[in-house]
Amino acid sequence: TVLIVDFGSQVTQLIARRVREAGVYSEIVPFQSADEGFARLAPKAVILSGGPASTVDIGSPRAPQAIFEAGVPVLGICYGQQTMCAQLGGAVEGGHHREFGRAFVSVERQSPLFEGVWSEGERHQVWMSHGDRVTALPEGFAVIGTSPNAPFAAIADETRRYYGVQFHPEVVHTPDGARLIANFVHRIAGLKGDWTMAAYKDQAIAAIREQVGDGKVICGLSGGVDSSVAALLIHEAIGDQLTCILVDHGLMRLNEAAEVAEMFRQHYNIPLVHADASDTFLDALDGVSDPELKRKTIGKLFIDVFEAEAKKLGGADFLAQGTLYPDVIESVSFTGGPSVTIKSHHNVGGLPERMDMKLVEPLRELFKDEVRELGRELGLPDSFIGRHPFPGPGLALRCPGAVTRDRLDILRQADAIYLDEIRKAGLYDAIWQAFAVLLPVQTVGVMGDGRTYEYVCALRAVTSVDGMTADFYPFDMGFLGEAATRIINEVRGINRVVYDVTSKPPGTIEWE
Ligand code: XMP
Repeated sequence: TVLIVDFGSQVTQLIARRVREAGVYSEIVPFQSADEGFARLAPKAVILSGGPASTVDIGSPRAPQAIFEAGVPVLGICYGQQTMCAQLGGAVEGGHHREFGRAFVSVERQSPLFEGVWSEGERHQVWMSHGDRVTALPEGFAVIGTSPNAPFAAIADETRRYYGVQFHPEVVHTPDGARLIANFVHRIAGLKGDWTMAAYKDQAIAAIREQVGDGKVICGLSGGVDSSVAALLIHEAIGDQLTCILVDHGLMRLNEAAEVAEMFRQHYNIPLVHADASDTFLDALDGVSDPELKRKTIGKLFIDVFEAEAKKLGGADFLAQGTLYPDVIESVSFTGGPSVTIKSHHNVGGLPERMDMKLVEPLRELFKDEVRELGRELGLPDSFIGRHPFPGPGLALRCPGAVTRDRLDILRQADAIYLDEIRKAGLYDAIWQAFAVLLPVQTVGVMGDGRTYEYVCALRAVTSVDGMTADFYPFDMGFLGEAATRIINEVRGINRVVYDVTSKPPGTIEWE
């Protein structure tokens, strides 16, 4: 096991992911409980994450001293490097040399950390994001890499197997970072890369059994990949203690609810309740146009419906959800620390605190592509695994402004045509997610010989690896022209179509 001590970086889970990719099991513990985690897991190596704090501030977080007394290899990243240096007798300076984004590291010395990846004298691109920097090394350390703004960009105490990097090897903008992390776990810590998604599945199943005991679980099913994988996994773990609930909130796509219900009942033979709550949801959303309020309203009603359905089933102890890591990190900081809320994903920040059921979220550490791999491991068909993500609050997020039944109908038709065109063009699998958005804006047009004054429909399509960053999809204009023509001809209420060419960041994938 590799222990990852989380100091609150937005990208701590990427470290875990890189370790998983290297075929090694890891666990993340928040710094507050790192002492306990270190004792419990007896890890073969430790990685200290980055974080928003400054080691020069009084009371800033520290790594457990026990880690440095145990003789295990340690890799400190950014804040992790700084606190390691501060704790071992070096010095850190605050504030003056902020460095964000692309930088280049010159390799000063050969090291097992760089073996087979970087050689002495070379320069390599890395990603930096720091305000503080190390200014004096603890005894035993040497500089193995420098950058213009970080003279101690990479440091090593080869005898004690302590390594520190100021840059972030876990992000894709450090192109060789994954291989450096693999070097740390394989060459330096001597761990074999024999851990797989099949093993993850077994661990997840064991963890579910332990958490749930003989309690009853209900699982909200949206028809998307995440909740389906969560349901299958839980079903493997606890069988008929699980009941799935498909809440039709009236914000699904065309025919979606019926298709999902049928597939789950027939294919998987998992007990499923199809709760039609569309009136409740749409009435509650009447007049609500603030995006966060929409999310909170929907999140609260989801729980109301789950609780009502649980009661009908004679009670449930747990609510299971297919929450993924990117949902978590954008809603609340992993450690409950100071990272900012981008949006309250309904299955995370949108949940009311008064909920009686406890949460089961077996996918909370995973990224979308890992969930798909886990789905394959669980025997889900490829056609299903390849489905585009669909957010829990559904079409409400794609109807900026007030959500009304009429506008939802218009949106549903446009969306179905758009996706149909994408499938026909053979582009569905090349795209991470594609959907229509109905703007609350009417514009003037001319159809036949008459004037029209109808809504604008925006089309969105993006590519992405994990939903954390995304690029707009570069359709050719011919495709867009045809999709626009069909939508305007076939959908009453739309007379203009535009294409969204915003990446994430600065945009998000959904419009709300
Ligand atoms: P954004 O819009 O934040 O979305 O770039 C990233 C990915 O997450 C999906 N998404 C959600 N999924 N509940 C979900 O289950 C939500 O509340 C939610 N909001 C966004 C979004 O569709 C994209 O794939």
